[in-house]
Amino acid sequence: MASKKNGIARIAKQQKPAYHRILLKLSGEAFQGPQGFGIHGETILSIARELKEVHALGVETAIMVGGGNIFRGARQKGFEIDRATGDYMGMLATVINAMALQDALEKEGVFTRVLSAIEMKEVCEPFIRRRAMRHLEKGRVVIFAAGTGNPYFSTDTAAALRAMEIKAEAILKATRVEGIYDADPEQVPDARFFTAISYREVLSQNLKVMDATAISLCMDNGMPIVVFNMNRAGNIKRVVLGERVGSKVTPA
Ligand code: GTP
Repeated sequence: MASKKNGIARIAKQQKPAYHRILLKLSGEAFQGPQGFGIHGETILSIARELKEVHALGVETAIMVGGGNIFRGARQKGFEIDRATGDYMGMLATVINAMALQDALEKEGVFTRVLSAIEMKEVCEPFIRRRAMRHLEKGRVVIFAAGTGNPYFSTDTAAALRAMEIKAEAILKATRVEGIYDADPEQVPDARFFTAISYREVLSQNLKVMDATAISLCMDNGMPIVVFNMNRAGNIKRVVLGERVGSKVTPA
């Protein structure tokens, strides 16, 4: 009986999240699944199911979505789109992903709000910081769309900015590798893996975690970043529960 009790206590303890409020950065690639472009139904639904579990832990969850699965970069074959125009096109792509994720989450019974940095009232709410925080307090998953609303800024930078604004405790950066390495692990099989690393090392070694603007913003404001593999089922929840998953970027 005692051990059963202990077991229950242990399970209850294991389920205690390490974070109260998070900002998850999902690149557009996360939605494309095996088809390599666009939105893959089963993939987005499985992301929604994982997010439902995280949400059920009582974690206030905000998500910044990228758009690379729909539009990537200004350079098209035989036609170079102006950088700012290309960036705006990318921002519009993130709105499409945000709406797809909203739909998938709501099919799982999770209430959501999409807030766009570019105003398009017929489609979703405009980003208003205090409103975003209120939605989170009310238990809604907040999906940020259209990056910062400005060209020349990545959705990583937008994630860092919004994380600070909404007072998230960490940025969870989903990738397709285990975390941070000193070289691309898909190209260099013996690349060194970091379980923890400082912002300064990331910048000085030019490690491909997030772009320098995003890392600098996090460094200046002490925002921890956890980089982890999104392709492993259950990983978002593991990170949220504080398990040793991925790599952590911190000041020390
Ligand atoms: P509370 O006032 O905290 O309950 O928040 P709420 O979001 O439920 O209230 P509101 O009445 O503002 O929103 C109701 C619905 O309308 C929600 O699905 C919102 O996402 C949506 N909504 C609110 N503002 C806008 C907007 O500017 N544009 C669009 N397209 N939808 C909006």
